[in-house]
Amino acid sequence: MFESASWITSPVDCGRACPLFEAAYKFPQKVQKASLSVSAVGLYISHVNGVRYSFGLFNPGWTNYADRIQYQTYDVTASLQDSAEISILGAGGWATANLLLEGEHFFSDRICVIAELRVTYCDGTEEIFSTDESWQVFRSPVLYSHIYNGETIDHTAEKTFLGNAVRHEIFSRLVPQEGVRIREQDRLPAKQFMISPEGDRIIDFGQNLSGYVEIKVNAPKGSRIRIRHAEVLDQNGNFYTKNLRTAKQAMEYVLGSNGEQILKPYFTTQGFRYIAVDEFPGKVDPACFTSVAVYADMKRTGYFSCGNETINRLYNCILWTHRSNFMEVPTDCPQRDERLGWLGDAQLFCKAAAYSYDVYAFYRKWLHDVASQQLPSGAIRSICPFNNAYDFRFSAAWSDTVTIVPWELYRIYGDKTILEDMFTCMCRWVDYMHSAGSEEFLWLGGNHYGDWLALDGPDPREPLTNKDFIGSAFFAYSARKVVECGRELGRDVSEYEQLAANVRKAFRSRYIVNGLPATDTMTGCILLLQFGLAEEQEKEKIVSHLLELMAKFDNTLCTGLLGTAYILHVLSENGYAKKAYDLLLQKKYPSWLGMLDYGATTIWERFDTIDENGIKDVRNASLNHYVYGTILDWLVEGAVGLRSSFSHPGYRKISWKPLPDARLGHAEFRFETPNGIIECRWQITDTDVQYRICLPNAVTAEVHLPDGQSTVITGGDHTFTSRLPD
Ligand code: BGC
Repeated sequence: MFESASWITSPVDCGRACPLFEAAYKFPQKVQKASLSVSAVGLYISHVNGVRYSFGLFNPGWTNYADRIQYQTYDVTASLQDSAEISILGAGGWATANLLLEGEHFFSDRICVIAELRVTYCDGTEEIFSTDESWQVFRSPVLYSHIYNGETIDHTAEKTFLGNAVRHEIFSRLVPQEGVRIREQDRLPAKQFMISPEGDRIIDFGQNLSGYVEIKVNAPKGSRIRIRHAEVLDQNGNFYTKNLRTAKQAMEYVLGSNGEQILKPYFTTQGFRYIAVDEFPGKVDPACFTSVAVYADMKRTGYFSCGNETINRLYNCILWTHRSNFMEVPTDCPQRDERLGWLGDAQLFCKAAAYSYDVYAFYRKWLHDVASQQLPSGAIRSICPFNNAYDFRFSAAWSDTVTIVPWELYRIYGDKTILEDMFTCMCRWVDYMHSAGSEEFLWLGGNHYGDWLALDGPDPREPLTNKDFIGSAFFAYSARKVVECGRELGRDVSEYEQLAANVRKAFRSRYIVNGLPATDTMTGCILLLQFGLAEEQEKEKIVSHLLELMAKFDNTLCTGLLGTAYILHVLSENGYAKKAYDLLLQKKYPSWLGMLDYGATTIWERFDTIDENGIKDVRNASLNHYVYGTILDWLVEGAVGLRSSFSHPGYRKISWKPLPDARLGHAEFRFETPNGIIECRWQITDTDVQYRICLPNAVTAEVHLPDGQSTVITGGDHTFTSRLPD
């Protein structure tokens, strides 16, 4: 592919405007078949003889551009006769934007495209037409395009010739499409129209999401429309945008013709529930506006539900937050000037994500990018893709993505290639931790995010749980993952077995004091239990201490990213299922359900982001952050009780350990696994608990009911009954 094509760019600096690249070819004889391959530094939309060719939206996608850029190949035979007019609209997208709060952090200072048209004539001969200096460049109606800020599209703008294209060197590899394409997925009508106290005309779509607004309008040529997007109104009902930080999230249109027309952005999405209509021809009719959710085309595979409507609402928030942040890469949030592939968030959420959608291909492509960013030292950066110089931390839990996510994906999907793909990378990461610490088997002195945004100390950005403790705990955990993955691949992992044992030993002698974590926090206790760092006989004391610490915070949720991901698992695994439910169902602030009382339709970055005084901490006040949606993995593995093990991956053999609780009434999960559909359900009646599990023929389940019954079953529909839980 791209045998003779050159990367081309505009002869004049287009800034943030979108250049249009065009070429026309005449064919000497009849065409039998033709294909067009296209890519861009930035984004593109291609047309051949007026027919649009794209795989979904935002082609060619988002990868670690410094290493590889995807291209797409379209069969364009149906659009060709004796000639082809090719046009490619380019945009900066993720390649030219400053991706992060401050400074100049972009991959390229210009938009480039590359294309190759391969034509096979009826006599069997082939001809290739490629991008070169003969292509012409024009100004397009897209006068401004930016992923955070939105677009200005003037459909009356003249198509001005800017000159012939110039060649530009891009050294990255061109690779075929690997990622999951992004598409328009759900369409939501306006729910409410209101005038705010400050006089803004506001439309509420009722659901926070990532996407854009499609406008259907009937108005004269030259009419102007301007809308801004926000996630929330302030406590007085005014349009609130401070939590977007510098992201403008504004769309401006000038209508290009008279009569009815449909308007939407080309290369940008916004995170929003509300829009403010700043300019509109005539009276604002809410029926003209449709909110369109845009996200990766993943297959829905998991369905949870229970008898508690508030928990079902929370589940719905998790689903929407997941959808909002699976855009080419797993992003932290879809609205502010960030929207980045933070590894920690993506690692913690990967199980929950897999319990809703088939995310295997999505994560696999992203992990390839993560691995491609590994430094010669083995260090893994905390964000991927990552444009350049802003040198991020190699943080425990974030960088451990490379060991944990492949392990979990293998456990859930049972496909060994993910382990093959990532094994070298994970070994190198563990070697890095081994060499980075100031003591041989402990990772001391790292620069970690720690239990980020925990509310048990004075500053959520400086959480209390000791960072060296966290660094070494993850070192121990990752070393073990390397051993398990290596064994599964049939590799000799004796060195890593030794290393994992040494790290665990060093960790225990330094960080377990009188049977408790040396860092006296909830997350300290949680990590000891979750990562197998405590011995069996130590567990009861640690979990009792965890309960004491929780009581100090009124049994509300004051753990940060790390503690929150594991807290319910640790409680229910260690005999405190009721306490896990208490915390899940806690309404007092901060808590999962507390967010719902303040109107959340997606999961927030902090449990206490909004209270009666409005939004606090505008720096970390995203209202669409999936990481606290990790609770879904406990609903599935804990409450419903369905698990697949690493030793029998892909749900060939499962364990079913339901945890019925009267406050949920019933709970069920239907899951499309690689080995068929599994359905399990429990229901509390007046007299007993009824259990039902439906298994595909080849699947074996070890069943453990709370009253002590246990059995092994295979295939088919099975029911059990037990006495009511205490
Ligand atoms: C992101 C987080 C991320 C963190 C690193 C934040 O700005 O939104 O979710 O993991 O930075 O600590």
